[in-house]
Amino acid sequence: MMVDPAAPILFFDSGVGGLSVLQPTRELLPHAPLVYAADSAAYPYGTRTEQEIAARVPALLGRLVERHRPRLAVIACNTASTIALDHVRAALEIPVVGTVPAIKPAAEQSRTRVIGVLGTPATVRQPYVDDLAERFAGDCQVLRHGSVELVALAERKLAGEDIAQAEVAAAVRPLLDQTAGTPMDVVVLACTHFPLLAEGLAQALPGVAQVDGGAGIARRIAYLTRGQPWPVQPSEGIAIFTGPAPTERLVGALGNYGLHRIEHL
Ligand code: DGL
Repeated sequence: MMVDPAAPILFFDSGVGGLSVLQPTRELLPHAPLVYAADSAAYPYGTRTEQEIAARVPALLGRLVERHRPRLAVIACNTASTIALDHVRAALEIPVVGTVPAIKPAAEQSRTRVIGVLGTPATVRQPYVDDLAERFAGDCQVLRHGSVELVALAERKLAGEDIAQAEVAAAVRPLLDQTAGTPMDVVVLACTHFPLLAEGLAQALPGVAQVDGGAGIARRIAYLTRGQPWPVQPSEGIAIFTGPAPTERLVGALGNYGLHRIEHL
């Protein structure tokens, strides 16, 4: 099938977390037109039920695809992906890339065989995560913690607020408290908001390597779009919000990701 060079890649998250997936894609495919959609009206996803997510996400993505005609969609959200990836794939005719916890690379890297999975409360309870842990980290102790606080901290950081290190440390404490004896040496950032707090997390979890899916997803997108035409000049990215208009400071932060046009859905 012929692909229109102007057809964008669509990224989708509840808020600003998916920017941590968009960024490595932008670096790998600098001419790719990008549309970033934040379902801010329903943020945060991490405290919602499976039923709510499974009903909402495919419908919203359907509307976005109709309007923007992307060549590929990326669910840049672990919560939505671990719950609704199959529903979205069934509803759309374009390739859909999901973001699921990077347990496999974490297990490959761990020496102590104790790894952490830091996600949202909804993500860490998913059977999808049980399955990944069983398949790829069978000989590891897999500690899990769902944090709504870290999601909110990442949103505040992108909105230009100063984040106190004590807040990050308090939010990861419940994960650290689960370690007994053998230390955890790798943590999976199983929520796309969390790489936005990488420095604070490194301080709060010294000696613990952080693993997330962003770079792998960028490579997957490059593979799925190989041979397709792109615009000659990089085009202006679009950010779409389902909720209230973003603040001026957030608009500035979005500009740093190449997203210069703001729309409402
Ligand atoms: N960024 C999302 C994730 O990867 C969800 C954050 C939220 O809305 O709770 O899970």
